[in-house]
Amino acid sequence: MQIAAAVILAAGEGKRMKSSLPKVLHTVCGRSLIRHVVAAAEQLCSEIIVVIGHGADAVRAELGASVSYCLQEKQLGTGHAVMQAAHLLPPAGPVFVLCGDAPLLTADALRSLQAVYLESAAAVVVLTACVPKADGYGRIVRNSSGSLSRIAEDRDATVQEKMINEVNTGVYLFEAAALHRALPLLRNENSQAEYYLTDVLQILLQQKLPVAACLVSDWRMTMGINDRAQLAAAEKLLRERINGQLMLDGVTMKDPAAVYIDAGVHIGRDTVLLPGTMLLGRTIVGENCLIGPHTEIRDSIVGNSVTVCHSMVSGSVLDDGVAVGPFAHLRPETRLRSGVRVGDFVEIKKSDIGSGSKIPHLSYVGDTKVGRDVNLGAGTIVVNYDGRKKHETCIGDRAFIGCNSNLVAPLFIGEGAFVAAGSTVTQDVPANALAVARVRQVNKEKLAARFLKRGKD
Ligand code: UD1
Ligand code: CA
Repeated sequence: MQIAAAVILAAGEGKRMKSSLPKVLHTVCGRSLIRHVVAAAEQLCSEIIVVIGHGADAVRAELGASVSYCLQEKQLGTGHAVMQAAHLLPPAGPVFVLCGDAPLLTADALRSLQAVYLESAAAVVVLTACVPKADGYGRIVRNSSGSLSRIAEDRDATVQEKMINEVNTGVYLFEAAALHRALPLLRNENSQAEYYLTDVLQILLQQKLPVAACLVSDWRMTMGINDRAQLAAAEKLLRERINGQLMLDGVTMKDPAAVYIDAGVHIGRDTVLLPGTMLLGRTIVGENCLIGPHTEIRDSIVGNSVTVCHSMVSGSVLDDGVAVGPFAHLRPETRLRSGVRVGDFVEIKKSDIGSGSKIPHLSYVGDTKVGRDVNLGAGTIVVNYDGRKKHETCIGDRAFIGCNSNLVAPLFIGEGAFVAAGSTVTQDVPANALAVARVRQVNKEKLAARFLKRGKD
């Protein structure tokens, strides 16, 4: 059964974050809190409605047109928030209500809620959790036969109710017709003068409608984020989940606690990740690679059998068999074709390096197209910027650039050309030519002693 709609509550301010960013836009494992919730809901629901308020424009900008929005101008409580979305909900059938600040909830947890809904034919199923510390949560009060009798909000709970450790996770599956009938009956007569969504359950019970609870297997999955410490705790839990799954899928991690992988990153089998590896954003890594230690790869595509160590890579494509590092920096729009070697203290930007070419040491290459089997000697610098504009350089197949050369762009170096070490090349070099662009050496016999002596004074 596909669920028609999910309402995600995200209008609250999140005061305890002490942030100028709306709470639901803080990230764990590279994705905003709200996006994690939307991703889980999307797996079961065709329509997602997000209730926005604080930072409404920023939340809209984050999620774009993939969801519908309704604005809750004043945050008068979770029940009031759902009232704002009621007109967008179907007249009947199951609808989820979720919190925008609980990023660890899985689609599987939503499916178990759905299973209880189907077998109980309840007007609402609430997802509950047994937590070690229940402070702040609404407590699940059950009657002598074990069925749910009310949710007692922390502020309004009796001393006895406060001892209950089964809590409301803020995740529900409602039957929409029952929800539509109950919402107008909500009152705000409580300690916060808010319209509590939890009171809907009591209204349904008074109407003699069945209300069910579904206890989640692992309470940590329902954890809501209220402050930065919880944000870090959620990041750690999600990291463990991501790394655990990748290891099950055949990725080796020497120390999984020291490997940081964003949600949505793909990694092939038999790839080994060493400590300090960060694979971020929209990154895909192939099979049999060796990444790290201390390497950051962001928004990049890495082929099979690639090694990258002690390096930073962003917005780049590395084909099969490429080797990078140590201490290389690959900037956006760099493409290293198969078998390319990039060594220490090399920076490459917006350049396409042909198969088998080598840039082993101490180089800067920008806005350059390099052919196949080219060798750029140590200290080769592409001079791509004249202070006003960037210019392009093209180096043909099998060319050899001697050490410490400056290649002043715009420049064309033909196939098989040879640039002598220490040249500052300002004119195009034809194919197979030798270019020497440096001052000729002069040797003055016996003059060294004079300088050496002077040096000793
Ligand atoms: C709520 C539940 C509580 C549950 C807890 C789980 C109620 C009355 N209480 O309490 O039983 O244990 O969640 O975390 O529902 N929001 C709006 N508009 C509002 C108020 C809140 O959109 O006017 C959003 C918030 O942005 C947040 C979510 O609803 O994403 C929950 O609100 P919050 O104020 O954190 O509720 P709790 O007091 O934690
Ligand atoms: Ca909360």
